Amino acid sequence: MRDTKFHYADIETLRSELKTSTEVLPVVDYGAGSTGNTSTVSGIARRSLKRPKHARALAALAAHLPSQAALELGTSLGLTSAYLARHTGVLTTVEGNPHIQALAQSHWAKLGAANIRSFSGEFDATWEAFADRDYDLIFIDGNHRGEALIRYVEKSLPLLHPDGVIVCDDIHWSPDMEAAWEHLRSMPEWTLQMDAFEWGLLTRNQALKREHVRIRF
Ligand SMILES: C[S@@+](CC[C@H](N)C(=O)[O-])C[C@H]1O[C@@H](n2cnc3c(N)ncnc32)[C@H](O)[C@@H]1O
Repeated sequence: MRDTKFHYADIETLRSELKTSTEVLPVVDYGAGSTGNTSTVSGIARRSLKRPKHARALAALAAHLPSQAALELGTSLGLTSAYLARHTGVLTTVEGNPHIQALAQSHWAKLGAANIRSFSGEFDATWEAFADRDYDLIFIDGNHRGEALIRYVEKSLPLLHPDGVIVCDDIHWSPDMEAAWEHLRSMPEWTLQMDAFEWGLLTRNQALKREHVRIRF
């Protein structure tokens, strides 16, 4: 029988509704991956969000750690945030586009997610505001440029709990992101470095040996 432990029908019903939404939002361009001045909510829901199986994997990871505090860079419509929030004490999430952030907040109200701290602003410009605590899980899912990914991981290190994990999205999205992932995973800090193709996981957890593993699911 299919394991439904991390499957949430209410979040998936909302995803299906958003995929047919004709609402149009202004675009805020951070130089990676956006085209045009507006985007439809349906386009964002179809193209920009982690698919359900990856949202479930992130929720399972948060439950496994277990996570008291998680950070998501790149909120978008807030659906992966909702998965993470169900398995962490407090989820902090950051979104540069205020129109998208407002929509995400309305989704969490519908889904009854009350343990989310939401910041609106460019990641670097807002960093000090959310760098006020340690995180067990840091999910970097915005601004898919190699130099930005390396900077966010380096800036995340002081915030990362010793047994915590950093998950970097879209590590094989472009040659630039591939090179950044190779650079990051070679850093001496890490014990386990896991390549799940769609994302890469890094941890300093000393209970694990230093190894590079590849998984596909
Ligand atoms: C791929 S989407 C996030 C998807 C979301 N994590 C999910 O799985 O549901 C990336 C989001 O990050 C935002 N973003 C990209 N670069 C940013 C930056 N430098 N600062 C703030 N927000 C940024 C975009 O506006 C976009 O909404």
